[in-house]
Parts: sequence; structure tokens; C-alpha cells
Amino acid sequence: MSRTVLMLPGDGIGPEIVAEADKVLRKVNEQFGLGIEFDDALVGGAAIDESDTPLPQETLDKARRADAILLGAVGGPKWDALPMAKRPEKGLLGLRSNLELFANLRPAILYPQLASASSLKPEVVSGLDIMIVRELTGGIYFGQPRGVRQLESGERQGYNTYAYTESEIRRIGRVAFEAAQQRGKKLCSVDKANVLEVTVLWREIMNDLQREYPDVELSHMYVDNAAMQLVKAPKQFDVIVTGNMFGDILSDEAAMLTGSIGMLPSASLNSQKQGMYEPCHGSAPDIAGKGIANPLATILSAAMMLRYSLNEEKAAQAIETAVSKVLDQGLRTADIMAEGGRQVSTREMGDAVLAAL
Ligand code: IPM
Ligand code: MG
Repeated sequence: MSRTVLMLPGDGIGPEIVAEADKVLRKVNEQFGLGIEFDDALVGGAAIDESDTPLPQETLDKARRADAILLGAVGGPKWDALPMAKRPEKGLLGLRSNLELFANLRPAILYPQLASASSLKPEVVSGLDIMIVRELTGGIYFGQPRGVRQLESGERQGYNTYAYTESEIRRIGRVAFEAAQQRGKKLCSVDKANVLEVTVLWREIMNDLQREYPDVELSHMYVDNAAMQLVKAPKQFDVIVTGNMFGDILSDEAAMLTGSIGMLPSASLNSQKQGMYEPCHGSAPDIAGKGIANPLATILSAAMMLRYSLNEEKAAQAIETAVSKVLDQGLRTADIMAEGGRQVSTREMGDAVLAAL
């Protein structure tokens, strides 16, 4: 069976880290006889430079045909002055919405080898294993109307719309309840139901759904408290489900609990399990081209791709085990460097994972 994986390196450190994940994927492709065929395309700033749009039609067509997509990162200061509709981020958001990748899974796992890299006390974070399920194609990111308008007073006003339909809430809720069933059977739904009607509805639907998943314990938390609890006692969480913007913010916070955002992979899935896989971190233009970026989040994203979209659990685990092995060997990129570690470059880290496979 042949399957296609589309590589979208993007901008900043994107090309460097995707190159390492590419090597790793090609190796397991051979080792496990996966029959993956590779293709690539431009997205984000790289696509703007080439064809004046962050999401060329050709890229979108290739993405639609692919079984899975591996994306590096998009954006950078070079394109910051462009109008909103032309920014690199629109390439990413366009892929998410066109492919209906509504379910964003962002695991925050602390590798025991990196306990000292976290800014929190080791006892607060040791053994941490949280899954954030973020709604990705709705909410305030996509709500209409939006824009900047001229008021009669002469002043300009910026505005966005925070809206969710029942069906949008229900489908992300199901993904989260099912994830909880596979894990610790605890689901915390994060909202702002003390202020925002849209999240009053969110809470109501989550409560409704709970009847279908009696084995899962559902709790609710306001987002401000959730942000606080994540740094106070993060191990109380198993699965967190929340909307697009709260999920964006809380997943960065959760990432930092694990020592470095450079370690965290993510999956964005649609209802056919077609998925786009990307590191949780951004394009880090400040370190682009220096060969010091951590490729592990992207390599671990490739593992998630094998697991969720290509149904190749063994190959996924092989990659995860190899990553754990190189951490055991004391190899560290700059972002996770600590006493006793040996600092390596992006490429050396990728090579070490290859060797451990
Ligand atoms: C993320 C990023 C994106 C988002 C940006 C780059 C549009 O922060 O994937 O978390 O806000 O969703
Ligand atoms: Mg983000």
C-alpha cells in the first residue's frame, strides 16, 4: 500500500528541523517497509517569496491528496509588515480550515532525563503527562465578522467574533472524551463560562456528552484558574479540552513545564484521520540558520503521524524509543542543555536519533 506524506518545511528553523525528521522518517520507512512516498511544497513566507501567497493552490492540492503532512513552522520578521490576509500564518490557518483539521492534540510529557530543564521544581513536574485537546478550526480565530472598522466618532475599532456551533463543540468533545478513555479517564474542560455565552454553551454540551462516556470523570475550569493550576499543580490534569485561543495559550504554558517547547509535537486531525503534524514551537527566526534548533519536536511529530494517520504504531514507538535513547546518552541541543549534558547541533541530534533506530 502506498501512502503519501507531504513535507512543508516553511520558514525560519522550519527547513532545518524538517530535514532531520525527513531523515528519520525515511529510515523507518525502509526498516518497517511502510511504503511511504514523499512530496514537498511551499507554505508561509517561503511561498510568499516565490508566488506572493502564503498558501499556493498547488500546495493546497498536494495537501488534500496527502495522507499526512509534516510541517516545520511559518512566519518571521521579514513578512511582519504584510496585511493580515497575506501573512505567513494565513498559510497555516488556511491548511487547518481547508482540510478541516479541527482536532489538535498537544501532549505535554516530561522526559525524566529533562526534569532539571523545567523552570518548575522537579517534584512539581516529574512524571508529568498531559494531553491538551485544542479545537482548531473555529472560535475567535475564524469567527465572522472580523476586522478593523471606522466608527462614527472617527475612531477605529478592531473586532473579532468568538462563536462555536453545537456541532463544532460536540465533535471536539468526542475526541477529548475518547482520548481520556485511552488514558487516565479524567477530562477537564476549560472555558470562561462566568463571562462568555459561547462557553456557557460549550460547558452545556460537554456535560451532555459526558452521559455517553460514563467511565470518564468530567470537570470544568475557568481559563484563568487553569492557567494558574498548570503551574501550581500540573499533575492534577490528564486530558484538557478547550477552544482555539485558550488552547493556543495553555499549550505554550504546558510546553514550558516540560523544560522546552523544543520537545513538543502536535497532531491536527480531521474526521477521516488525515492529519497535519507539526512541532508546537514556532519558526524561531532569531536562531534560524545557526544549526542549533532542537529537531526533536518535529521528529516526535513524525512519530505521531505514524501513529494517528498511518496506523503504524510499531514504527511510531521505534522513533520515540530512539529519542529517549539519545536523551539517555546525554545529548542536548542548546534549549535543553544542562549540567552533564553534551551540546550538539540540529544535525548531530538528528543523526543520533538515526543511529539509535
Ligand atoms: C500555534 C501557533 C499558531 C496558532 C500561529 C502561528 C498562527 O501559535 O500553532 O500554536 O496561533 O495557532
Ligand atoms: Mg501557539
